[in-house]
Amino acid sequence: MNEDAWNDLLTAETYAEFTRSWPVYAHLNRALNDTLFEAYPDWPDIRILDLACGTGATAEAVLQRLGPRGELHCVDRAAAMVSLARTLLDDPRVTFEVRSAERLSASRAAPFHAIVCNAAFWHFHGSPLTDMARLLVPGGSLHFTVPATYVRGGSVEGHPLQAAVTRVLAEGHAELPGAIRELNPTQLDATAAMCDLEPGRWTPLTYRSTQGEFMALLRIPAMSDWMAPGLEPEAREALLDQAMTDLDPDEPVTVDWFVVSFRRRAGAAPKA
Ligand SMILES: C[S@@+](CC[C@H](N)C(=O)[O-])C[C@H]1O[C@@H](n2cnc3c(N)ncnc32)[C@H](O)[C@@H]1O
Repeated sequence: MNEDAWNDLLTAETYAEFTRSWPVYAHLNRALNDTLFEAYPDWPDIRILDLACGTGATAEAVLQRLGPRGELHCVDRAAAMVSLARTLLDDPRVTFEVRSAERLSASRAAPFHAIVCNAAFWHFHGSPLTDMARLLVPGGSLHFTVPATYVRGGSVEGHPLQAAVTRVLAEGHAELPGAIRELNPTQLDATAAMCDLEPGRWTPLTYRSTQGEFMALLRIPAMSDWMAPGLEPEAREALLDQAMTDLDPDEPVTVDWFVVSFRRRAGAAPKA
């Protein structure tokens, strides 16, 4: 995927519309939010970072549970996504910042009691776990979602060839811009141990849908950019129309995900 594909007005608008018309992102964000507030049952006024906030679907879920004095800092590298999120989310508890996950240490908004990141963690370069651990207060927690296809050893419901291609790309070509970075739970736990995080907790989440939802998802330009990079919107639409002719929108589709949580040790010394 082209890394700038999200920084596009048409993508931002189509994505925001998709998150309102189809249930997948609401489903994931609800599960993420439940996991987040499980960690803070009696303390809703926390300070949270929403990393890769997109057009605000994650924030909308978090704001339903966040206390009146809580704070939610929404960050995304794509200015187009942030700018639409600003117009959709009018709430005094929310602030926005255009910044990439790789440059979070330069943000003046840290530290946070919690970080949430829905449907984006596999995009980040470098060692996102290390970077995020530095932004958490001792005892703070990180929660993110990832499809099982992008997890080493994860059981895969879906297309085995797609899973195999993802693996080859992740193992041999992770330096490519936009390449998916496969998550290896064992490696992540080793990294966690070095940055005062407890071992990760991986909770399986099964999403049951129909082919129709994935057909609509591919109408978001950033989601289909990988098929034919650089194609003009009309040509891409025509290509999708042709590809979808014989598909049954009512065909059931199941996608396996994980909700992953890491907690910073309560007694951990502050990081420089
Ligand atoms: C599928 S959207 C998820 C948005 C939101 N979390 C939600 O649930 O609707 C993925 C988002 O990740 C953002 N993103 C991708 N790579 C990023 C990076 N390196 N740093 C920050 N944001 C990134 C994209 O700009 C896009 O808005």
